[in-house]
Amino acid sequence: MNKKILVVDDEKNHRLMQKIHLQEAGYDVYEASNGIEALDVIDGNGIDLILLDIKMDLMDGFTFLSHVKQKSGVEIPVIVVTAFANVKTAVKAMKLGAVDFISKPVDTDALIEYVEANLKESDRAERDAGSGDVLKDYKFDGVYSEEGLGRIIEMLKMVAPTDATVLITGESGTGKELVAKSIHENSPRAKGPFLAVNCAALNENLVESEMFGHEKGAFTGAVSLKKGKFELADKGTLFLDEVAELPATTQAKLLRAIQEKVFERVGGEKSLKSDVRIIAATNKDLQQMVNNGDFREDLFFRLNVFPVKLPPLRERRSEIPLLVEHFLEKYSHSFNKFIKGYTREYMEKLMKFSFPGNIRELSNLVERSIILCNSDMLDGGHLPEFDTKMAKNESMDIKDNERNLILKALKQTNYNKTKAAEILGVSRRTLHNKIKEYDLEV
Ligand SMILES: Nc1ncnc2c1ncn2[C@@H]1O[C@H](COP(=O)(O)OP(=O)(O)O)[C@@H](O)[C@H]1O
Ligand SMILES: [Mg+2]
Repeated sequence: MNKKILVVDDEKNHRLMQKIHLQEAGYDVYEASNGIEALDVIDGNGIDLILLDIKMDLMDGFTFLSHVKQKSGVEIPVIVVTAFANVKTAVKAMKLGAVDFISKPVDTDALIEYVEANLKESDRAERDAGSGDVLKDYKFDGVYSEEGLGRIIEMLKMVAPTDATVLITGESGTGKELVAKSIHENSPRAKGPFLAVNCAALNENLVESEMFGHEKGAFTGAVSLKKGKFELADKGTLFLDEVAELPATTQAKLLRAIQEKVFERVGGEKSLKSDVRIIAATNKDLQQMVNNGDFREDLFFRLNVFPVKLPPLRERRSEIPLLVEHFLEKYSHSFNKFIKGYTREYMEKLMKFSFPGNIRELSNLVERSIILCNSDMLDGGHLPEFDTKMAKNESMDIKDNERNLILKALKQTNYNKTKAAEILGVSRRTLHNKIKEYDLEV
């Protein structure tokens, strides 16, 4: 059965445009010219996704958004369609529960792409189910959207109150440490200490004495007794950052400390005990390292009790505007500058970037723009010229993928375009255009 899309826009031409392209892509399209009409259409039609204009007479997009949740009972994903200059509007809409936004004038390829991606997302969300208003009372020192990190926070909310060991994976700068802190802050240990050990320290002695402490004279440079973080984090949480970098001997000691809950200071005889909860983080694929014999399997299992994977920023771009607002507020404050916002070009540039350094990189970019800015708006000129190679590669991957799929369908059907289009779930015309684009004509 075709998915049902509702287009809400007060301008007939805009509706029509979107309708044509959506229908061509195989969707059933419903229309409404304001929020009130839209609420009516939702009733009983089983709408799967809504494309929403914000500025409308009668009932505007914002008011509509605040009604739509109660009304439909189920969550219908809403994509806001708005002028880019109005990114503030988009952010407000996302805070009200919109899942994504598309800029006007609408690029038709992007339209279909966004619709497809968000329908997939919502299917997944339905399967995962069990959501609700649980996010509100989870302490987290950052920003996120329900559709982005919010999903993960719902899980954190369940694991935080337990003593379970959590293994957080994700590229550098995705927020692993921030998430680890939040787990601590939302646990019964919140009043106890949260201490971090960087397992990538220069040498074995250093890592071990960081973790377990050392006795005076244990090694050259150990001029006095030092307590380790295991000892100091008693009744609190110990964060093992970059855990994949641990030397083999330290892995063994760590395993024992977790398993038997005893350890000794380096150069010490006395067995010490401590009550700590462990959270570990890494940007490496630990399972792969286990397979290669670079990380102890038994330790991996001890750490991987509750795995949490943080997606890279480029896979949750819808959070970029929220994050920019957050950093804008944070830094304009600390630099004592009054900056109203940013131009369309600024956000467009950011939206295209691949952020190899993830949220940390975005934070640095906004900070840098604020330093450079001597007006009250950030604009594209305040951003460096990005090497867009990464971004291009990514879209090339998608294109490659698409080309392969189409080729496969064509071969499978002996180049019968009608049948191939059916398999691919696109119209014959779309397929025809794609065949031209990818030069697949026989
Ligand atoms: N959701 C978020 N909201 C606001 N700031 C964030 C968020 N996630 C990460 N940050 C910021 O980005 C930077 C990198 O986060 P961090 O937790 O150190 O990442 P990692 O440990 O994965 O390298 C930090 O300055 C952190 O405060
Ligand atoms: Mg880190």
